[in-house]
Amino acid sequence: MSFIIMKNIHKIYKKNGQRELHVLKGINLTIEKGKTIAIIGSSGAGKSTLLHILGTIDQPTEGELFYNQQNVFSYDNKKLASFRNKNIGFVFQFHHLLPEFSALENIMMPILINRKSLPEAKEKALQLLDDVGLSSRENHKPGELSGGEQQRVAIARALSNNPELLLADEPTGNLDSNTSNKIFQVLNTINKEYSVTMIVVTHNHVLGESTDFCLKMVDGRLE
Ligand SMILES: Nc1ncnc2c1ncn2[C@@H]1O[C@H](COP(=O)(O)OP(=O)(O)OP(=O)(O)O)[C@@H](O)[C@H]1O
Ligand SMILES: [Mg+2]
Repeated sequence: MSFIIMKNIHKIYKKNGQRELHVLKGINLTIEKGKTIAIIGSSGAGKSTLLHILGTIDQPTEGELFYNQQNVFSYDNKKLASFRNKNIGFVFQFHHLLPEFSALENIMMPILINRKSLPEAKEKALQLLDDVGLSSRENHKPGELSGGEQQRVAIARALSNNPELLLADEPTGNLDSNTSNKIFQVLNTINKEYSVTMIVVTHNHVLGESTDFCLKMVDGRLE
């Protein structure tokens, strides 16, 4: 039984009075549990659009998405939000950490939203900070962290509710190669330690080659 199946996914953006934009043109994809997948492709190819649909934060114009044989876009909004919160962690192209809160608090937030107790959230967040090598930065706010450190906090936050799937959109986008390598090591360790399935959009070929599969997006299709 496959973990994720995408069937004939299309995404068409349509703005009033403008020509429609056919971004995804029939994506078919099967992903087994615990695998790591890199998605590469030029700017505007539709990588983020695909990731957002996989993360159920955007709807396809056509096609179906199955998680463990469940057709998730047939869920109502409430059920879909709860499914997403329990199963999927998202690292965005731009990290979206909350600037007023410390690294520790940023990681605790989704756990508290998931109605866990304060001590439980703190214990988990401290463990995750340690996993990403940032134990000594728990009280720093995002503005007091380097770009690579902010990204590692974003990864820890995405893992806070023990998701089965981690989606990361160019997690090393603006970082130098040394820092990028550190982040790849963190992702690899997390994949092994927690058997989290990972789908990572990247421009970095080193990461592309270290994953189980590397898929290329060209003109709205996967090669
Ligand atoms: N909400 C939207 N409405 C209309 N067009 C959109 C919308 N979001 C994205 N697009 C268009 O869809 C195309 C694909 O965008 P997407 O963000 O998926 O690209 P990408 O492959 O992630 O690019 P990058 O590498 O630059 O992040 C782009 O041409 C973009 O302009
Ligand atoms: Mg993108």
